[in-house]
Amino acid sequence: MIIELKNIEKINIAAFQNDLISWFKREQRDLPWRKDQDPYKIWVSEIMLQQTRVDTVIPYFNRFIEWFPTIRDLAEAEEDKVLKAWEGLGYYSRVRNLQSAVKEVSEKYSGEVPNTPEKIAELKGVGPYTAGAILSIAYGIPEPAVDGNVMRVISRVLSIWEDIAKSSSRKIFEKAVRQLISHEDPSSFNQALMELGALICTPTSPSCLLCPVREHCQAFDEGVQNELPIKTKKTKIRNVQLAAAILLDGNEKVLIHKRPATGLLANLWEFPNVEIHHPLQNEREQVADLFHHSLEINIKLERIIGQLEHTFSHLVWNIKVYSGTLNSVFQESEEWKLVSFEEMKQFAFPVSSQKMLKIFHEHQKE
Ligand code: ADE
Repeated sequence: MIIELKNIEKINIAAFQNDLISWFKREQRDLPWRKDQDPYKIWVSEIMLQQTRVDTVIPYFNRFIEWFPTIRDLAEAEEDKVLKAWEGLGYYSRVRNLQSAVKEVSEKYSGEVPNTPEKIAELKGVGPYTAGAILSIAYGIPEPAVDGNVMRVISRVLSIWEDIAKSSSRKIFEKAVRQLISHEDPSSFNQALMELGALICTPTSPSCLLCPVREHCQAFDEGVQNELPIKTKKTKIRNVQLAAAILLDGNEKVLIHKRPATGLLANLWEFPNVEIHHPLQNEREQVADLFHHSLEINIKLERIIGQLEHTFSHLVWNIKVYSGTLNSVFQESEEWKLVSFEEMKQFAFPVSSQKMLKIFHEHQKE
C-alpha cells in the first residue's frame, strides 16, 4: 500500500522535533516507569497503560514491580498472585499474555527482552504499539509507537482526516511518525507525543494556546483542531441481566466460584450468579431454581440487597444482588470454595464482585 502524506512537506521536521522534545524535557511528569530504562518495567507500564489512565496505573505499577521485580520473578509467579496484582485494573487477558510472554523471554532469551522489531513482535500480547514503545524507550530505536492518543496528535498536526477507529488507519500514522521521529532521541520523541496527547492535545478542548508545537500544527492553522480526529462510534454494547448471591454457610463462610480458564474475566473469582434471560414473575424462587439447575447448588435466597451495573468494552452487566444461605453441606472443589471474609482477600475478584461485597457489608450495618 502506498500512503501519501502530502502535508508532511509543510513541516520543518528538525524544528518540530526540537520544540516537542525540549517541551517534554521541561514539562514531563515524574512517573515511576521513567526512573530507569529497564525494558521489563517499560513493558509492564505500557501494558498497564493500554486501557487505563496514568493516575490509576501508578499504584498498581509500583506494587507489581515490588511483587515481581524482574522477568524471572514474574515468569515463576503463581497465576493467582499475578491476577491478584492486577485485581481491579480490568482487561485481565493483558496480564495473562504478559506472563506467558515473560516466560518465553525467560526461557528463549535468558531473560533479556529482545531488541529487534521482528523478535519482540512475536511475543504474546506485544502488538505494534507496545513493540514500538519498548524499542524506543528502553533501547533508543527509532520505531513508531502509535496508539489512539498519538493518532489524535498526529491527525491534528498533519490534518489527517482518516477515521482513527478503523484498524487500517494505524499504518498511515506509523508512516507519518517514521518520517517525523528523532533519530537522536526516539525515546523522548515518542514519550513527548504521548505526553502532549495526555496534557495538551486532549480529545475535547485541546489547549492549543499552551502547545509547544502549535506553530507546526496544520489543524490549528486551519482552525479545525476541534473537528479532528475523525473517530466513528464502535459497535453497540449488549445488555446482560444477572442474579448473583452472597451465600453464607452456618459458619460465617461465603461461597465463591472460580470462572473458567477462557473468556471474560478468565480464572478470576466471583460470587455465584446466573443469567436471567426473561423477566421472572416469582422472582426469588425462580432464581433459586436457576441456581439449583445450572450450578447444582441448593440455596435459600433471603432478599435483594441491591442492584448494580458494570460496563465492559462490549457489554453491560445489570446485576441484582441477593443475600442467602446454603441449604446443604457443601463439597468444596477447585472452582468452588467456602472462605471467611478475611480469606477472601487472597483471591482476585473483578470490580463487580467488589461492588457486591460493599453492598453486602453496608446492608449488614443497617
Ligand atoms: N501512555 C502510554 N504510554 C505512556 C507513557 N510511557 N507515559 C505516559 N503515558 C503513557
